[in-house]
Amino acid sequence: MPPLRRPDRDQAKFRFWGHDLAATLLPHTDVAAKSRKRASELALTAYLRDLVEKRRTEPDDSLLSSLVAAEEGGDRLSSGELVATALLLLVAGFETTVNLIGNGTVALLCEPEQWRRLGEEPALVPTAVEELLRYDSPVQMTSRIATDDIELDGAGTVPKGAAILVAVGGANRDPDVFDHPNQLRIDRPEASRHLAFSVGIHHCLGVALARLEGSVAIDELTRRYATLQMVGIPTQRQLLVLRGYEQLAVRTPSSSMMSGHDAARGDTERSFSDGRPTTSRGTG
Ligand code: HEM
Repeated sequence: MPPLRRPDRDQAKFRFWGHDLAATLLPHTDVAAKSRKRASELALTAYLRDLVEKRRTEPDDSLLSSLVAAEEGGDRLSSGELVATALLLLVAGFETTVNLIGNGTVALLCEPEQWRRLGEEPALVPTAVEELLRYDSPVQMTSRIATDDIELDGAGTVPKGAAILVAVGGANRDPDVFDHPNQLRIDRPEASRHLAFSVGIHHCLGVALARLEGSVAIDELTRRYATLQMVGIPTQRQLLVLRGYEQLAVRTPSSSMMSGHDAARGDTERSFSDGRPTTSRGTG
């Protein structure tokens, strides 16, 4: 069930809003970014308010329509609560999955053998997705308040009530848990022991959807574009909590085993920026 099912024509707007909101998940955000975030938050909230009203009269198969119906069935979700829930789903579920696909693509393209193997052995995709979540985690950090004094293996005590920044991205490279943690291994047996979705009561609600989206994207890309290559060095976003790329340029040599549709286009170079691909012909 799609969370919102917004019209396709609004995709670019969503990309920008999500981008601006993600940028402010930083402890020290500059004033310009804060004001961009505020503008995007207002625009997105207004958009979602309209969408909620639309789903009252024109329900579809989205989660939002189900939430609207639950409200009308007596669960009393107010319009404000519906908008807040939709906003949470978007902010938590959009930029994160985009970064799983982007980071995963870059990690695999740096290891062409593993990219090719995945295209030939699609049964490995679920394990590979866990490994990509571990290796270059889309969410690097989260925070907690200590509910008790916590002893840290002789390294001191975190006092009850203290705010803690938890580096899940670091934990995902723990050599006590992962053999040679700095190596990417698409068939790593212990890959799913990562903390990329956090743990405890705030464990990611969208795990199943994120895994599905990641698997579909990585499966399609590795099967269709067996010889995909990066062009230049991809630009990383300067974020602390979320980790992802600003821009990634790739090319598909005409000799690759692409689907007929893609092969017919020949040697093509694409640059993905802000979610909108721009295409130019390559030289072969
Ligand atoms: C690769 C994709 C994703 C990653 C890496 C990810 C990661 C995370 C992490 C680390 C947390 C916990 C934050 C904390 O402990 O404070 C979280 C929470 C959450 N995620 Fe995800 N997420 C992803 C995709 C999604 C999707 C697709 C959705 C829904 C459409 C979603 C919805 C949520 C929600 C609602 C929470 C809050 C849970 C709570 O606080 O009780 N996430 N996610």
